[in-house]
Order: sequence, then C-alpha cells, then structure tokens
Amino acid sequence: MQILSIPNFVMFLLLSLLPIALAVDSQSLDGKYSCVGTFIFGRHNDRVAKPANYLTTLGAVEQVESGTFYRERYFGLDEDGNSVNSDFVINGLDPQGYFVYGDTYAQCPASTVIEYSQMSFLQGLYPPSTAVNTNETLADTQDSELSNGTSVEAPLGGYQYVFMDVQSETSDDYFWIKGDENCPSSDAAIDAWYDTEAFKALNSSTFDFYQSLADLLPSTKFPKSKLNFGNAMNINDFVFVESIHDEDWATKWNSSLRYQIATLADAAQWGISYDASNKLNNFTIGGQSLLGASLTYLNATKEKGSPYINYFTGSFNTMYQIFGLLELNQISDNFTGMPGYGATLVWDLLKDTSDNYFVQFSFKNGTDDDDELVAYPLFGLNSTVLSWDDFVAKTEAVSITNLEDWCGKCSSTSSQCTRYSSTYEQASEAEDKGIDLEKVADGSYHLNKLTNAGAGGIGAGVTIGVFLILGALVFAWKKLRSKKAPLLPVAKTVSRETKAENSSASNAST
Ligand SMILES: *[C@@H]1O[C@H](CO)[C@@H](O)[C@H](O)[C@H]1NC(C)=O
Ligand SMILES: *[C@@H]1O[C@H](CO)[C@@H](O)[C@H](O)[C@H]1NC(C)=O
Ligand SMILES: *[C@@H]1O[C@H](CO)[C@@H](O)[C@H](O)[C@H]1NC(C)=O
Ligand SMILES: *[C@@H]1O[C@H](CO)[C@@H](O)[C@H](O)[C@H]1NC(C)=O
Ligand SMILES: *[C@@H]1O[C@H](CO)[C@@H](O)[C@H](O)[C@H]1NC(C)=O
Ligand SMILES: *[C@@H]1O[C@H](CO)[C@@H](O)[C@H](O)[C@H]1NC(C)=O
Ligand SMILES: *[C@@H]1O[C@H](CO)[C@@H](O)[C@H](O)[C@H]1NC(C)=O
Ligand SMILES: *[C@@H]1O[C@H](CO)[C@@H](O)[C@H](O)[C@H]1NC(C)=O
Ligand SMILES: *[C@@H]1O[C@H](CO)[C@@H](O)[C@H](O)[C@H]1NC(C)=O
Repeated sequence: MQILSIPNFVMFLLLSLLPIALAVDSQSLDGKYSCVGTFIFGRHNDRVAKPANYLTTLGAVEQVESGTFYRERYFGLDEDGNSVNSDFVINGLDPQGYFVYGDTYAQCPASTVIEYSQMSFLQGLYPPSTAVNTNETLADTQDSELSNGTSVEAPLGGYQYVFMDVQSETSDDYFWIKGDENCPSSDAAIDAWYDTEAFKALNSSTFDFYQSLADLLPSTKFPKSKLNFGNAMNINDFVFVESIHDEDWATKWNSSLRYQIATLADAAQWGISYDASNKLNNFTIGGQSLLGASLTYLNATKEKGSPYINYFTGSFNTMYQIFGLLELNQISDNFTGMPGYGATLVWDLLKDTSDNYFVQFSFKNGTDDDDELVAYPLFGLNSTVLSWDDFVAKTEAVSITNLEDWCGKCSSTSSQCTRYSSTYEQASEAEDKGIDLEKVADGSYHLNKLTNAGAGGIGAGVTIGVFLILGALVFAWKKLRSKKAPLLPVAKTVSRETKAENSSASNAST
C-alpha cells in the first residue's frame, strides 16, 4: 500500500515546476470527430456538515450552473435557448433543448443530498422551456390541445420534468454508484489500512498537530480523544463546511491551517483508495463498479443510439478510487486530492467520419467557469482519445460489470445477492425437482412428499430441516421482491426499475 511520503504541498511545488504536457485542454474536435453520446459522473454539491440530509441553496445554484455548462456543450444552447458554439453538440437531442423521454438517462441512489444534486443539475441541463407552447410537434406530444378547443399552457414557466432512475439500497442497480455499501470486503480492506505501518506512522507524526486544534474546534464534537489522523476526514469536513457557512468558525481558521487540514484529509482518503501494489484492492470495489457503469451504459448508447446523455451522481470516495484505477494519479498528484463539489468526470463517445468509435475522458474540478473541463489520457496511454476497443479492454480489466460479480467480490449479504448464494441455488434446484418450498415453510407440505422427492434425486443427506430453512429463505426473498415497484421503461429499449423514494441510504461518504 502506498501513501504520500512527501507532504502534498511539496509535491504541489515540484509539480508546478514540471511542464504539464499531458493535460491538454482538447475540448475541440477539429472536425475529425463528432460527439454521439456521453457518460457523466458527478459529485453532489454543497451541503451542511455530516450527517447531512439536504442540499444548501448554494449547492442547488452551483448544480444548476453545472447543468447549464453541459447544456451548452451538448445542445449548443444557453439557458435562454440561444445558440452557442460547441464541437460536442449531439445530433438527436431536441434542437430546442426540450426533454424528450429516453434522450437523457439519470441515475442516483435514494440519498437526499445526492438526489437533490442530481435534480438541480437536470434543471440546468433542461431549464424551464416554453418550447412546448410554441412548437406544434412538441405541443402534440404533450396533448396540450384539448378536445373542446382549449390550448393549455405549461405550468411553472415550462418546468421540465426530467426522468430520474432513483435506486433504493436493495435495487439491482444500486451497486453501480454505491458499490462500496453493503460490501463487507470493501469494509474489511478499509479496516486493514488502519493497521498498516504507513497509517500508524502518519497517525503519530501528525498527532501534535491535531491536538493543537483543540481550541479551534467544538469540544463536544471533537474531544481531544478524537483529535488525531484517524479522524482526518471528519475534521476536514467540519472545517470545510463551516468555512463556507459559519462566519464565527470561519474567522478562527486561516487559509494555511485549512490547507494543512485538507491535505492531511486527502492523504487519509487516498490511503483507503489506492494501493500501488494491488490496484484492485477490495477498497476500490465502489470505483470498479462505477467504471463498470461507464462501460455498460456507454456501450448501450453506442449500440442503441440513445440515451445520448447518461448522468450519474455520487460521492467523492468513489472518485478517488476511480482516479487510481484510471492511473490519473500518474499524470498529476492533483488527482490524489478531494474533487470539488459538483466535480464531473466525463466520458465522451466520439465517432469519426468512417464510423469508428472513440472515447475521450475529461474532468472538471467543480462547477465554476474557472473550473475548466480538461481532457486527460487514461491508463498511462499517450492520447486523450482512445479507440473504443482499447477503452473496453482497459476498462474491463479494472471494473465490475454485473451484479453477480459485485455480490461475489463483496461477499455481500444484501438481498439482491440472495439469488446468487449457494443456499438460493440449492433452493431453486429443489423447486425444480417439484418441491414447493413456500408450502414447506408454512407447514402445509406433507413430509412424505419430501421423501418422494428425495427418491427423485435430491441428495439423501438433505434433511427436512434444511428444506425448512431453504423454504423460509425463498419465501422471505420472494415477498421482498414482490413489494418492488412495477417495471417502467427507461431508455427507448431498456427497462429498469424505478423507486422514487425519499428515504435515504447511508450518507457516509456523501
Ligand atoms: C419542434 O420540435 C420538434 C421535436 O422536438 C423538432 O424536431 C422541430 O425542429 C421543432 N420545430 C421548430 C420550428 O423549432
Ligand atoms: C375545456 O376543458 C378544460 C379542461 O376540462 C376546461 O378547463 C376549459 O374551461 C374548457 N373550455 C371550454 C371553452 O369549455
Ligand atoms: C491514532 O493515534 C491515536 C493516539 O495514539 C489513537 O488514540 C488512535 O486510536 C489512533 N487511530 C487509529 C485508527 O488507530
Ligand atoms: C494560522 O493559524 C495557525 C493556528 O491558529 C497559526 O499557528 C498560524 O500562525 C496562522 N498562520 C498565519 C499565516 O497567520
Ligand atoms: C455491448 O452491447 C452489445 C449488445 O448488447 C453486447 O453484445 C456487448 O457484449 C456489449 N459490450 C460491452 C463491452 O459491454
Ligand atoms: C494541478 O492543479 C494546479 C492548481 O489547480 C494547476 O495549476 C495545475 O495545472 C494542475 N496540474 C495538472 C497536471 O492538471
Ligand atoms: C481539485 O481541487 C482540489 C481543491 O479544491 C484539489 O485539492 C485537487 O487536487 C483538485 N483536483 C484536480 C484533479 O485538479
Ligand atoms: C503512443 O502509443 C502508441 C501505442 O502504444 C504508439 O504506437 C505511439 O508511437 C505512441 N505515440 C507517441 C507520440 O508516443
Ligand atoms: C477481497 O474480497 C474477496 C471476496 O470477499 C476475498 O476472497 C479476497 O480475499 C479479498 N482480498 C483481499 C486482499 O483481502
């Protein structure tokens, strides 16, 4: 496992002396390629200190700005509907910037801050529009003309309802964004980091510094016993959030102190995100899953032509893991630092004039105009534009692309993994052989029938007790599945489950 042996600010000084040859700002396609789709992974925005359950007004404003930025990029339209120049305009998106179901696909976990961040980004991407009132084709699709001759104007200034595929913790698609949750292997790998010599050395060398913060932090939240490197992330979170929101606290901390607290937190987070000796360390399972999503969803866009824009919203810890998996830390030490609020990772699907596909990765470290979207080469390659086949091969090597693999790698006992467990397989086998396990579970199955089934091939060692357990499990599992929301179509040809509930899963890394 590798940690930063040189303090971050020294690295920063060293790096700023190096030519930044690889980080080319190549947000122009020179007529060589056209953009046909994209996959964006965005961080949530400004929230209160943890545990946080709402997005602040500032966070909402910044997310709308970010959505506006991508509207200009992919629609070639500003927020008022005026044309702007962009090499990345995707043909097929509505020319007036109106949301057409299936054009944009947005996915997020059912977790307040992340969900609201996604919603406000989408409000910037698809601002209120009167297009439906002025364009006959669109008005038609919305049935604005009634049988009695009345034509109805859109409410809320033409507010656009953009479809969001919100995942609950037990959904099959939950792991794409939150692959680190309900994942015992990932938890164990993180715990293991706290036992390393690297962690212990940092914990002791920074101990006096953290203790010196006693008068600068609330003693109720951070008693002296908690002032150490083991709490680097929580301490930084408090300082970062209150620097933005609380004038009294903000004046207690000067910028060099905040910088020191932030870079130590970066070192702590990087320690549980990157293992130089094993890139696929179990603590990167969340990052591996999101990379699997980039591959799976971009491939669907390539195969089916749409959705044109895929936008997923999640957390910073996944981003640190991705930076290591994509080898971006080899390009710049900046990638071992906390991505800004609303930061976006972008995989653009490009096509040349001979119908060959390519992928270009870019990163925008926040939502301000100053935060430029910069293209970076991935996997230590020398070009920012990867052929589709290279993208697939290189990404597949560091990603998890289906639920069954995720369940296995995590050793997860989450309910969506039940069907892959050996118990469930045994139960299915028993059912295939004609044993009604639900009846076994509720006691209405006659035992002599079990004996008959045994004669039909069920192993002689399988006892009635085992059937009872299997039956109960399957019964519980089926009940759980049947409570799920009905299937709704999502993309033109893909079906996914939706469950727009507000209940939030853990905000641990939000
Ligand atoms: C009206 O909307 C349709 C569907 O989005 C679009 O194809 C067409 O170009 C629009 N017409 C005008 C005049 O903007
Ligand atoms: C037409 O129907 C709508 C909806 O029911 C109603 O609000 C409106 O008053 C009706 N207009 C006329 C002219 O009857
Ligand atoms: C870090 O060091 C402090 C002081 O020795 C200790 O109390 C704490 O348990 C250590 N943290 C971890 C996670 O080992
Ligand atoms: C910043 O704050 C720390 C802690 O209070 C203090 O030790 C340091 O001297 C301050 N630095 C400057 C430049 O004011
Ligand atoms: C892309 O989708 C096609 C069609 O569904 C499938 O055959 C192929 O295996 C997929 N490729 C990847 C890399 O997922
Ligand atoms: C790293 O970040 C600094 C400060 O934002 C910036 O000046 C520098 O260009 C970045 N380096 C790379 C390689 O992106
Ligand atoms: C993003 O910005 C933060 C400071 O807000 C910095 O620590 C980090 O290194 C930056 N990341 C990149 C890739 O430039
Ligand atoms: C870039 O990499 C490719 C494949 O590894 C190699 O063929 C090519 O010569 C390299 N180009 C440069 C400019 O290094
Ligand atoms: C990672 O998790 C898997 C599945 O639980 C386990 O088999 C493997 O030993 C773990 N790897 C390490 C290095 O602990």
